[in-house]
Amino acid sequence: MTTLGMSEPARMVATEDPLWWRTAVIYQVYPRSFADADGDGVGDLRGIADRLESLAELGVDALWLCPFYTSPQTDGGYDVADYCDVDPVFGTLADFDDLLDRAHGLGLRVIIDIVPNHSSDQHAWFRAALAAAPGSPARDRYLFRDGTGSDGSAPPNNWQSTFGGQAWTQLPDGQWYFHMFDATQPDLNWRDPGVRSSFRQILRFWLHRGVDGFRVDVAHGMIKAEGMPDYHPQDLIGRFGVDPGVILTKEGPNPPYMLQDGVHDIWREWRAVLAEYGDDRVLCAEAWVEPLSHLARWVRPDEMHQAFNFSFLETPWDASSLRQVIDDSISAFGSVGAPSTWVLSNHDVVRHASRLGLVQQPAPGDGLGPRTASGLDPELGLRRAGAASLLMLALPGSAYLYQGEELGLPEVVDLPDDARRDPSWFRTGGVRYGRDGCRVPLPWEGTEPAFGFSRTGASWLPQPREWSALARDRQRGVAGSTLELYRSALALRREHGLGGGTVTWLPGYPPDVVALRNNGVTVLANTGSRAVERPGGRLLAGSGPGAPGVLAGDTTVWLLEE
Ligand code: GLC
Repeated sequence: MTTLGMSEPARMVATEDPLWWRTAVIYQVYPRSFADADGDGVGDLRGIADRLESLAELGVDALWLCPFYTSPQTDGGYDVADYCDVDPVFGTLADFDDLLDRAHGLGLRVIIDIVPNHSSDQHAWFRAALAAAPGSPARDRYLFRDGTGSDGSAPPNNWQSTFGGQAWTQLPDGQWYFHMFDATQPDLNWRDPGVRSSFRQILRFWLHRGVDGFRVDVAHGMIKAEGMPDYHPQDLIGRFGVDPGVILTKEGPNPPYMLQDGVHDIWREWRAVLAEYGDDRVLCAEAWVEPLSHLARWVRPDEMHQAFNFSFLETPWDASSLRQVIDDSISAFGSVGAPSTWVLSNHDVVRHASRLGLVQQPAPGDGLGPRTASGLDPELGLRRAGAASLLMLALPGSAYLYQGEELGLPEVVDLPDDARRDPSWFRTGGVRYGRDGCRVPLPWEGTEPAFGFSRTGASWLPQPREWSALARDRQRGVAGSTLELYRSALALRREHGLGGGTVTWLPGYPPDVVALRNNGVTVLANTGSRAVERPGGRLLAGSGPGAPGVLAGDTTVWLLEE
């Protein structure tokens, strides 16, 4: 591992406002698929650095970089073999420093992904654990257990992997190790003080380099229930929403390998580490937890700053559900003094331009493919996506965008089976398509090889031919394009301070219309398919064409009283 303090800290973004994150629009970069400078078909840090100006022009405040650490890439880099170095496929630490410096020079903050729940099986810690004897301190960094049954040939308990199949793998010496995800991603033992102090050092390594914060992977899963008891979700299903003790995760209600109180001590420790570097560095939790009132525990004043609002992401395009989730979000986060966040897409879910064109939303991580996409209406999806994004960007709090949504990119549903890389595709024998369809490399210039993603035309996942028309250069400056919708919405959001206002619901609108006012801007989202009457006022932004006085179906507008 590289030692602390080798580099000079990077230039930081000059700001008077340490609370920048409360209102920020944060753009998620999935490095494999953003831009490829060296032409090998996999995106890299130099590719990102060279394209930063287009993000500044879009008007976002910050980037969140998905993992770029040394990794065998079995889970797109969420399998980290060295937390303090850059994988050669993405570049070098010097490339990272340059990217950070250039981003800061453009006024863009940079938060990076940290993956503490598990490492790669190629990490030196895990290799040492394999070489050491059962019961050794090296094994105690992970979750090794003896098997059950008379000869130990059955796994220690019945826990299943989030990616499908058993969550335990047996070694030749008979012991088993736990992995919530792929077998190449062994879970670390967060009850081990050595693991905890190593991660505090890892945080300092990146904070010293100048990062503005961390997005924390699986932030609800790091401590497992004492004794690792079997999981019987059927006893709890049906009690969610009735029994306040039942908390829902993506994996089911109250899994014993998640939601343990001990995780909160870790966040308090981390918060103190961040404070060593000033008061403007942030932690954002990936904690797929419902209800929102429970998720708020992750953002209490001495824990994390933000948590992704997956309840909002999972809400169908329906006015009453949207009003409810907006109210619940503002009140749940507000109850602990945190701003709400908003998000519609990321690298784990079906892109919202496709998701909102489906009758039934797929479960997170299932993806979309030829077998499951039959009911997809792409035009409807794109129209609703623009409307949903314009609604989201008018809400107070911080909004997360996923690369390519500003181009209206759809999920790619017809990837050839042999191109798929997501471990959940392999671990379920192709039952789940997984997440590759939202990770296809971005189109930049419509007539260039790989649409400008790489100069050689190489692309680790094939790009659909139709993406030529969605390339950034085809949309730039074109009125009515998704790119211009996002650009103008971000500029207006800043101008009218929408990230920092408050929501007032407006009465008197048809039930299908979400009608609110924030900082003097009237926001109307018509979730129905039929047009309704639109009140007077100057049209600031609209997600679709509309005649004066009319708000079309599946359309959002922002209006200013005259
Ligand atoms: C998180 C990441 C996902 C990854 C998983 C395991 O959910 O967002 O992409 O596969 O954790 O690290």
